Amino acid sequence: MRKVVVLGATGSIGCQTLEVAARFPDKIRVVGLSAGSNISLVAEQTRQFGVRNVVLKDEKTAEEFRRFGFLDVEVLLGIDGLCRLASLSEADTVVNGLVGSLGLRPSLAALEAGKRLCLANKEALVMGGQLVLAAKKRGKGELVPIDSEHSALFQCLLAGGSRGVRRVFLTASGGPFLNWPKDEMLSAKPSDALKHPTWTMGKKITIDSATLFNKALEVIEAHFLFGLTPEQIEVVVHPQSIVHSLVEFADGSTMAQLGPPDMRIPIQYALSYPERWESPYGTFGPMSFGNLNFLPLDNEKFPSVKMAYRALQMGGTAPAVLAAADECAVGLYLEEKISFGEIFELVGEALEAHQPIESPTVEDIEGTERWARAFITDRVKVSV
Ligand SMILES: NC(=O)c1ccc[n+]([C@@H]2O[C@H](COP(=O)([O-])OP(=O)(O)OC[C@H]3O[C@@H](n4cnc5c(N)ncnc54)[C@H](OP(=O)(O)O)[C@@H]3O)[C@@H](O)[C@H]2O)c1
Repeated sequence: MRKVVVLGATGSIGCQTLEVAARFPDKIRVVGLSAGSNISLVAEQTRQFGVRNVVLKDEKTAEEFRRFGFLDVEVLLGIDGLCRLASLSEADTVVNGLVGSLGLRPSLAALEAGKRLCLANKEALVMGGQLVLAAKKRGKGELVPIDSEHSALFQCLLAGGSRGVRRVFLTASGGPFLNWPKDEMLSAKPSDALKHPTWTMGKKITIDSATLFNKALEVIEAHFLFGLTPEQIEVVVHPQSIVHSLVEFADGSTMAQLGPPDMRIPIQYALSYPERWESPYGTFGPMSFGNLNFLPLDNEKFPSVKMAYRALQMGGTAPAVLAAADECAVGLYLEEKISFGEIFELVGEALEAHQPIESPTVEDIEGTERWARAFITDRVKVSV
């Protein structure tokens, strides 16, 4: 029986994790939940799964939650609460479905405490890759990716062996602007950017999929997860989102993992690994999907992926700047304070202006995040 804590239970990944948990009451027991602002939903989830440990954003949301009358539920708050929940003694598994930099400390806490960390929150690994790996080693925790591309690589490497890998291909759908002229894309409105062609996800990752900063973050995620050099990681556009990624081996064989674009499949695998459980979420039928296409990425139209390689080359805190600057710029774009094109400009400027700190501590990463946010907001103030 897996005893699971779900961080970000009210989000897209969190809700899909709970859907998987509800299908396997004999295999999964949910022992902790966290939420931000969606109190009515977390209250419903608390009741449905009989959870006794809940973490909320602040005292105001906790007060709202208490009105639902949960007398036997321990409520903790904020980042300290998230870290305590991630290391809860009665849990053996933590699903991190938090969005953005908020996910770093709880990821470290889970791994230090020896849990299996099922990681959707890629920003944690991008910002604090070295720290995450060190925490995993110290705490003897386990790191299983949920991101569909990395779940695919994880499975291909398990099947083919991690020695003798020549390179990997991360697939990218290309997002909603794949076929838009560049000029129109640069002034696209959030309502257009939020229309993802193949996946239904939270707002931040949906915008990241439109800019391809999501793929940029995933290049860095693959580097840390699998110990690949930047030269071994390539991005290829695959509009159908059926082939989730590929691994090419030294002998010329290439392995791929295929499936419908449904996050419940990699979420379930992260929980069931090394077992495979029955799932009703559909399969890849070779006849029913028609053609599968692969196209080169237009790095001139989407400069984001190149920035990931640049950040890896700069090293230290540079990937943290990329992730934090992007998170800040996406927030400003959703508030319609900057244009779509300015996301690329601002993140690129922040990256080039940064002096990386080698072998950073958590405090260095958090300081870098504040620096990147201040850099972006100052630039935006100057330009208005
Ligand atoms: N969605 C996908 O299909 C998908 C696929 C691959 C990877 N990922 C990665 O998974 C992560 C989560 O993505 P998502 O799409 O599930 O995001 P989402 O739908 O926006 O959910 C984010 C979760 O974090 C919580 N949260 C936000 N701000 C918070 C705060 N200040 N304090 C406490 N909790 C807070 C939200 O709570 P409230 O809603 O209650 O405010 C929600 O539960 C991201 O790193 C993303 O890149 C997602």
